[in-house]
Amino acid sequence: MTEPNTEPENKPGSTEPESDATAEASPKVDLEHLPEGFEYIEKLVDEPAPDDQQIREETGQQTTAHQEQQPYIAFDHVSKSFGDFHVLKDVSFFVNAGETLCILGRSGVGKSVSLQQLMGFYKPDSGRILVAGEDIIDFDEEQMQAIRKKVTMVFQNGALFDSLSIRENVAFPLRENQHLDEDQIQQIVSGLLEMVGVTGQSDELPSSLSTGMKRSVAIARALAAQPEAILYDEPTTMVDPLIAKLMGDLIQKLKYQLKLTSIVVTHDMRFAQRLADRVLFLHEGKARFFGTIDEMKASDDEILCQFLELDELVLPG
Ligand SMILES: Nc1ncnc2c1ncn2[C@@H]1O[C@H](COP(=O)(O)OP(=O)(O)O)[C@@H](O)[C@H]1O
Ligand SMILES: [Mg+2]
Repeated sequence: MTEPNTEPENKPGSTEPESDATAEASPKVDLEHLPEGFEYIEKLVDEPAPDDQQIREETGQQTTAHQEQQPYIAFDHVSKSFGDFHVLKDVSFFVNAGETLCILGRSGVGKSVSLQQLMGFYKPDSGRILVAGEDIIDFDEEQMQAIRKKVTMVFQNGALFDSLSIRENVAFPLRENQHLDEDQIQQIVSGLLEMVGVTGQSDELPSSLSTGMKRSVAIARALAAQPEAILYDEPTTMVDPLIAKLMGDLIQKLKYQLKLTSIVVTHDMRFAQRLADRVLFLHEGKARFFGTIDEMKASDDEILCQFLELDELVLPG
């Protein structure tokens, strides 16, 4: 099986500063007459992001977490090994439509493998997996491709097409799936790039971008496919705090404006606190904790508390 995310994340020379995110540079894009289905871009470009934590404090409630819903994504007693190595042992969790789940856990604990199973890149050894409301366990490649139109993944390295310009990377899903003329495609691409804060470099190749900007372009490309859900693999790892803030804002806006369902794998507890309706904490292959942010804060599980304390040390507030 081909591993979709094999490019080393941190190549020599890829640690350049991320300051290009703030570059003011854009030739003004006409965002007023966007094609059907993309009108939201105009609203999202300028609007400030809502903050789940703030909403929770003000209302004393979960934001979008509703117990009674049918899950949109779920693991039901999933186990997965590579050879003798048991990565995931009997892991269960769910994400309702419109909710955000954050997956936390140490490096190597199986976070990426979990996302890759949701995308159908790996099959579990046992258990059931629900994606877009469907049990995908027995799905063939063609059926999975239909699922991947609804649920897309943003890889750590962006997984952009190296030989296509940034603009063409974002245009790719539009050319594949839509009946749009060239002007409309260019207008949507410009709008999406503006929305994710990448302006001025759109005719260059992805190699000219920093890690954070590659991820931003990958998000723009994911949105061009008009998904119902996005899975983000460590969107804020190895980017500076400014980019991390922009990523958080963007994921937040997509949640509230587009009602996108998301799973965010992250090490960053502050990020999780801001975004998550629920949290899955993986430890030694098991779902050590699964619950709402408030339940997590109230938990006295020793290992979870240790993880959260350690995280505070690593990321001084
Ligand atoms: N294709 C594979 N073959 C063998 N082992 C793998 C493969 N993919 C991942 N693993 C192993 O599974 C474990 C979990 O990996 P991963 O999900 O990438 O961890 P993380 O939580 O850091 O994302 C790691 O020990 C990794 O080495
Ligand atoms: Mg990973």
